[in-house]
Amino acid sequence: MIQPVIAGNWKMNKHIGEAVAFARRLRAAFATPPAREVIIAPPFTALHAVAEALRGSCIRMAAQTLHEAEKGAFTGEISGGMLREAGCTHVIVGHSERRTLFGESDGSINRKLRAALIAGLQPIFCIGESLRQREAGETPKVIEGQLKEGLNNLTADDIGLCIIAYEPVWAIGTGKTASPEQAQEVHRFIREWIARQYGGAAAERLAILYGGSVTPANAAALLAQPDINGALVGGASLDVDSFVQVIGH
Ligand code: 13P
Repeated sequence: MIQPVIAGNWKMNKHIGEAVAFARRLRAAFATPPAREVIIAPPFTALHAVAEALRGSCIRMAAQTLHEAEKGAFTGEISGGMLREAGCTHVIVGHSERRTLFGESDGSINRKLRAALIAGLQPIFCIGESLRQREAGETPKVIEGQLKEGLNNLTADDIGLCIIAYEPVWAIGTGKTASPEQAQEVHRFIREWIARQYGGAAAERLAILYGGSVTPANAAALLAQPDINGALVGGASLDVDSFVQVIGH
């Protein structure tokens, strides 16, 4: 049985004070731990303060990206070790905004996944097709390519530490959600691909999250699908009440 995961990706939102206030309210809402693992991903500047606010709670913290190197002359970048030190347990890798706006390639995403694992962070590895690719019937090909290149040289043990997030690019921030059936079809495809490459045990343990306009109104139907093990929530994770409602479903 896979423990469902609800992760909130705040993207470039919330100053330190707002982030800490959110963390305190979220923590208070889950004095009794929910059945689902809860993760929030604040911007870099708020990580340390949020970790302090969450200390001793059941809520985990992710960063939104990392650099592939341990340290060195990479102005503006942050390493996995630094994120661990700031209190992160997880890190989002390969988000579509990183791919499209910041030119991250499958190769660099693969190196980042490995860097995250070496630093002791659980990666939330994001994949997903664009609208053009979906309309051209290329979804399976695109997903397979992202999995193959992104997970290159990772072992079944490594996969056991990863979370995969399927985020169709056309559903991110658009208010257009994949239907539960559309999402389930791709989640099934991902799990079967993992089973072929890494064995059935790795595939059965793997949490595969759906992301793209998840809200309190549609979360339950998505999470009821057999291969959807949670959600990566953008906009609806910025408000405590709506995030709590998504977790609560
Ligand atoms: P929205 O929920 O705002 O569509 O964002 C999804 C996302 O990109 C989460 O990583």
